[in-house]
Amino acid sequence: MTALFDKLSPESRHAPESGIVEVFNAGWGREDLIPLWAGEGDLPTPDFICAAAKQSLDAGETFYTFQRGIPELREALADYHQALYSRKFSAERFFVTGSGMQSIQLAVQALASAGDEVLVPTPAWPNIEAAVGLRGAVPVSVPMRLENSGWRLDITDLEAAITPKTVAIFLNTPCNPSGWVADEESLKEVLNLARKHGLWIIADEIYALFYYGAGPRAPSFFDIAEDDDQIIYVNSMSKNWAMTGWRVGWISAPPELGQVIENLIQYSTSGVPAFSQRAALTALRDGQPFLDKQVQLAREGRDCVVGGLGALDRIKLSAPQGAFYLFFSIDGITDTRQFAMDCVRQTGVGLAPGTAFGAGGENHIRLCFARSRGDLEEAIQRISVWLPEI
Ligand SMILES: Cc1ncc(COP(=O)(O)O)c(C=O)c1O
Repeated sequence: MTALFDKLSPESRHAPESGIVEVFNAGWGREDLIPLWAGEGDLPTPDFICAAAKQSLDAGETFYTFQRGIPELREALADYHQALYSRKFSAERFFVTGSGMQSIQLAVQALASAGDEVLVPTPAWPNIEAAVGLRGAVPVSVPMRLENSGWRLDITDLEAAITPKTVAIFLNTPCNPSGWVADEESLKEVLNLARKHGLWIIADEIYALFYYGAGPRAPSFFDIAEDDDQIIYVNSMSKNWAMTGWRVGWISAPPELGQVIENLIQYSTSGVPAFSQRAALTALRDGQPFLDKQVQLAREGRDCVVGGLGALDRIKLSAPQGAFYLFFSIDGITDTRQFAMDCVRQTGVGLAPGTAFGAGGENHIRLCFARSRGDLEEAIQRISVWLPEI
């Protein structure tokens, strides 16, 4: 390590490297690469959404704008939630951010000080614990239990992890990477626990619509919580409307927090570009048919990989209930980092090693199935030929 590195803050020095980059680098440049390591689908943003951004730029919307988001978009977010959760929402609850990732960062900043603890059921998207660590707070992993029927969050495990320093529980449902979806009973248990101990909940429900159970969306804290419960919801335009590159997200929180959230936005990005917000507004208002198509494609992708990989002898999986990832294990494979490196080198199929997703998921492998059917079938074929050799 260089002397300069040592002079950086411990929080920045200790921020983990992405567990996927190494595999990405090993596969980069291969012509036959099938990249299933990503956290995004392969469809580009629809033209009608891009057109709204172009129109905004042509209209000269190139200046600073509202820190909390343009009023039309905040209204549209309230309408969108109202339709989805069948309850009343005020636009005052909504804050436009520069991505789901930034929503997480702002929520953590708002709730946790240095040394405070945030409980994170794992396996989890690594950026969650990283955001907590960068704040100088402490992410406390609570490994979920893997049972025959799939992953389960044990409420006694969660309660046992609470200490006087705990300030929040981070719950991501539907979950990246495991595909686990909290049922309403589990959400009630978590909410009651949080109420009992005076904790906040950061609710990451960004995959709510990628749900394979009955009904149009996954169960949500919005189904059971009061408006003034201590919950900050983090969300994003990225996945629903194929807008990962736009960097637009939102927070839903009790309006009482408004000034603080506005300040945190002011001192980080100072707002989201107006043209991106116009695109987001159009996506919310006119994007339902595209969204339906995305979810249907993900559902078909799920069936394809669950059927195809599930038929292979050594592969163990349970069908994901939500999000768009298959999180599976392979008999005889314990070093998933090495497996992912070998897989991309030998077959050109890019997968994410479970080591990237924290405690409990290390011997699993994540595959994103929000991809074209052709790619998925080809990937299954290549893996099925290669697997007997290792
Ligand atoms: C669980 C979860 N939350 C939040 C995000 C953030 O998405 P974005 O920063 O693209 O809005 C992701 C992205 O992969 C995710 O998987």
